[in-house]
Amino acid sequence: MDKFVIEGGVPLCGELEIKPAKNAILPCLAASLLTSEEIIFNNSASLNDICSMLSLLDHLGVKIGGNVGGALTLKADNIKSLVAPYDLVRKMRASILVLGPLLARFKKAKVSFPGGCAIGPRPIDQHLKGLESLGAKIDVEEGYIIATTDGLRGGEVVFDKVTVGGTENLLMASILANGKTTIFNAAREPEVVDLGNLLIKMGAKIEGLGTDKIVIEGVKEVKGAIHSPIPDRIEAGTIMAATAITKGKVKLKNCFKENLESPIIKLEEMGFSLNFDGNSITVGSGKEIRSTDITTAPFPGFPTDLQAQFVALLTQAEGTSTVKEEIFESRFMHINELQRMGADIKIEGNIAVVRGKNELKGAEVMASDLRASASLVIAGLVAQGKTVVNRIYHLDRGYERFEERLETLGARIRRVK
Ligand code: EPZ
Repeated sequence: MDKFVIEGGVPLCGELEIKPAKNAILPCLAASLLTSEEIIFNNSASLNDICSMLSLLDHLGVKIGGNVGGALTLKADNIKSLVAPYDLVRKMRASILVLGPLLARFKKAKVSFPGGCAIGPRPIDQHLKGLESLGAKIDVEEGYIIATTDGLRGGEVVFDKVTVGGTENLLMASILANGKTTIFNAAREPEVVDLGNLLIKMGAKIEGLGTDKIVIEGVKEVKGAIHSPIPDRIEAGTIMAATAITKGKVKLKNCFKENLESPIIKLEEMGFSLNFDGNSITVGSGKEIRSTDITTAPFPGFPTDLQAQFVALLTQAEGTSTVKEEIFESRFMHINELQRMGADIKIEGNIAVVRGKNELKGAEVMASDLRASASLVIAGLVAQGKTVVNRIYHLDRGYERFEERLETLGARIRRVK
């Protein structure tokens, strides 16, 4: 298994182009199942999760052209299976996003229950309840969801809690349903909006994207389209935290300020200076790093996917900070490893109390999930001496050639096979 070896202490400086968003590309790839016409993606990202989704779509019979990391074409004009098998779904939970489109277009889908993962049980009850509201029959057999319908019909979907994947599945299912669907308590994440914009380009009738109430007027069929997925706000936020902790200065190109308001506000509260120029954001450092308090929430609140990275940053702030994780049950796996590097963090329920400023010392640490691994890299960039981050395959799921991109900013980091 690959690992990263990092020598801390170098301020990150330079420019970096932010890649397209993993969490926008994944649902958009699944949307190709909704039409027999070709969907063209002008760009993509070379990530293990994208490869997993493409192998699942290939298994279903989608014709795939182009290459991961560049332009991609998908054409679902000869679907040969409606089954998403366990060995593919267990690799990547977002595989559940094929359920809505398969059911909408082919009236049947058999998808293995996605397992939980390091950050929590990850149930999909809201997805299934929503599909039943549109007239789907849901059976569970031997760990598989079997969804059938003699034709989805428009209805009212009320999510008991905000769910990004649930909103995406129901968006894709409802655009071919007969009649009008209203989704209440919908997710407002930019990646949901990006999927919705692709569906509209394909001919879907959708109002209210980006709000908590989305109204869809079903259509008979949708067509091909050309799409450029939005930049990855989580990669951008991760690089911002890495720049901040090393007191460097980095210009991030191709990132949208409106998708990063909460992390930007937190960085400014901590004393960092940010400059905005069109679709570029430059992060610079102030005199000292001030403590602050963070609570994760659905968009436009502070993203749970940046929680671990900002906990690492807060270890260098003067004073006590609190970080409250409200979205996932166990998303503090990075904290034990940060403590081994000398961080003073106490966990009280779903709150991490971070006391700074603490000099971090390089250590051998273990990545446990995607964003926790990014947190350990960020800590390693400022720790004295050498940090070895093991099981870096977690990080490769969501960050493209992360060590090479950090190296272009001056980081002393290398991948060891
Ligand atoms: C998406 O996961 C993202 N993944 C996650 O990013 C992100 O952390 C999450 O949204 C929250 O923003 C992708 O987009 C591929 P949810 P998703 O459904 O859709 C509970 C990363 O690091 N819930 O919004 O699975 C659930 O357990 C990943 O890139 C139910 O209870 O998240 C969680 O506590 C990690 N029942 C909360 O809702 C359901 O039916 C939010 O989950 C669905 C969800």
